[in-house]
Amino acid sequence: MKRYLDCNATCPPVQKALDASAQAARDAIGNPSSLHWAGRAARRVVDDARDALAAFVGCESGSVVFTSGGTEANNIAIHSVLSSHASGHLVCTAIEHPAVLKPLQRLADAGFELSCVRPGDDGVVSAEAMIDAIRDNTRLVCMMLVNNESGAIQPVRQVAEYCRERGIAVLVDAVQGLGKSELDFQAMDVDFMSLSAHKIGGPKGVGALLVKRGVKLQELAPGGGQERNRRSGTENVPGIAGFSAALGQVDFTAFTPIRDAFEQQLKEQIPEVRIISDQAPRSANTSLFILPGMDGETLLMQLDLAGFAVASGSACSSGKREASHVLLAMGLNDAMARSSVRVSFGPGNTMDDADALVKALVTARQRLRGMAGLAA
Ligand SMILES: Cc1ncc(COP(=O)(O)O)c(C=O)c1O
Repeated sequence: MKRYLDCNATCPPVQKALDASAQAARDAIGNPSSLHWAGRAARRVVDDARDALAAFVGCESGSVVFTSGGTEANNIAIHSVLSSHASGHLVCTAIEHPAVLKPLQRLADAGFELSCVRPGDDGVVSAEAMIDAIRDNTRLVCMMLVNNESGAIQPVRQVAEYCRERGIAVLVDAVQGLGKSELDFQAMDVDFMSLSAHKIGGPKGVGALLVKRGVKLQELAPGGGQERNRRSGTENVPGIAGFSAALGQVDFTAFTPIRDAFEQQLKEQIPEVRIISDQAPRSANTSLFILPGMDGETLLMQLDLAGFAVASGSACSSGKREASHVLLAMGLNDAMARSSVRVSFGPGNTMDDADALVKALVTARQRLRGMAGLAA
């Protein structure tokens, strides 16, 4: 039996989104920039989706710039703030997604100063630590809303408030926050916020950058001037239609009882398990844990053979497996950071999946310990 428990990597598409994308692909045949009837019909699909997204996240429709996903949204915002500066200081949390860390690192290589602020051992980067890192020449502060590995919710509002008073630009990567934590763009009052459709049951390859009114956006890839000269390229009309149809379709808080029951059982069966960020405010569906002495990737492969799709914290980069930068930043050593497994619940998951996964983990652990010549 196949069980999918990796919704932070991508959430299975919801039916409404599949239907809306298929309908738009079939019926909205024109280019939204064309002035004729077919173009106007496609434009209507994009504008209706823009209005729906704006209403859902609490911003004006004019703040929504559709993109190819969270990665592009982050890159546009970072590029936009820094294209007009030759030097300066940047602040981010050390647990940002690579879609923020890598563009910032590139700027650091080009001469910008970069401060990466580490979290506490609960996986939360304190607002005080972020504020302490800010200097007179700080140009941009990046702070994610919800960490994709641990699910820890970050205190974005306090940091945003401090930056607003000093005119420092703030980018919030809210890709893992949409549908999983409170999200109100206007109330948060930041310059930029990035979102992605496929994390909420929408199509892959579409997302949005929300831009505060009055903040000018410098295009990353200049071209035909779509999205009011903020993101060129013909809009992904079926993707955008699917994105808006997915909004509100998955209630991730419904999976908290399953996540909590899973963790409870896991602690009973394997007492040395360490659940990450369980003492922090955490997104509703996520469980990141460490089985000391086990290699996360090997466990993942064992679970895969048993039909479970889960994630390990380590990432593959240039053929080399790297320990989770999130866990390393939390102060865990390399071996611990390599023994993590992330389970993220979503549509279709039941208590039975939680029970079965605990059993499979116990079995996999016994097998791996047996192979290593350790007592089961
Ligand atoms: C926190 C975070 N930011 C950005 C991204 C990238 O989003 P996309 O896959 O839409 O480019 C992800 C995806 O895993 C993510 O979890």
